[in-house]
Amino acid sequence: SSPVLLALSGSLRRGSYNGAILATLGEAVADKAALTIFPLTDVPLYDQDADTDTPPEAVAALRAAIGAADGIVIASPEYNHGMSGVLKNALDWASRPHGKATLTGKPVFTLTSSPGAVGGARAHAQLNETLASIGARVVLRPQAVVGAVHEKIVDGRLTDQRTLDFLVAGIDDLLADIVRPTAADREAS
Ligand code: FNR
Repeated sequence: SSPVLLALSGSLRRGSYNGAILATLGEAVADKAALTIFPLTDVPLYDQDADTDTPPEAVAALRAAIGAADGIVIASPEYNHGMSGVLKNALDWASRPHGKATLTGKPVFTLTSSPGAVGGARAHAQLNETLASIGARVVLRPQAVVGAVHEKIVDGRLTDQRTLDFLVAGIDDLLADIVRPTAADREAS
């Protein structure tokens, strides 16, 4: 069966460019991976008091979905030179329990996009730093930032072929980084 990829968008906006990129990427790689988007809409604000053995439902679902995925794809807008609060909040939840988080050790491909010229490069750097602190395995790739994104999305689809090819190459790197258990591994466990 195909590797399972879980995609997170840092934007809740209905017409989000980041969401559109993830949807287009999912279709573009459908022959080699099953990519589904986990909506962050219902994830509450992080509260350590609520971070118990029975966390909020959306948080438990997010952690389980990350755990069940072979790899993670994250797309974020840049808000005031950082990743969106929506995404940072979800990553804070996903980073716990410390040392046992399902995100720790997980291969992750990150991208940012923005109508601006530098495509959210500052948010991209910050996002990768946060993932490093969680011990996720961020895929090494020349910075996957998409500038002038408003000119590259038509009807909710990424139509700029060069950008799509570049991002698909990032997914290919992610897939190459996924070590799936072999039949022999499964027998041994
Ligand atoms: C922005 N935007 C923005 N863009 C950018 O390149 N650098 C930035 O620092 C910011 N800051 C910022 C702050 C806030 C609060 C908002 C709402 C927007 C513009 C942003 O890139 C644009 O709205 C994107 O379209 C958001 O991504 P989605 O929703 O299309 O995925």
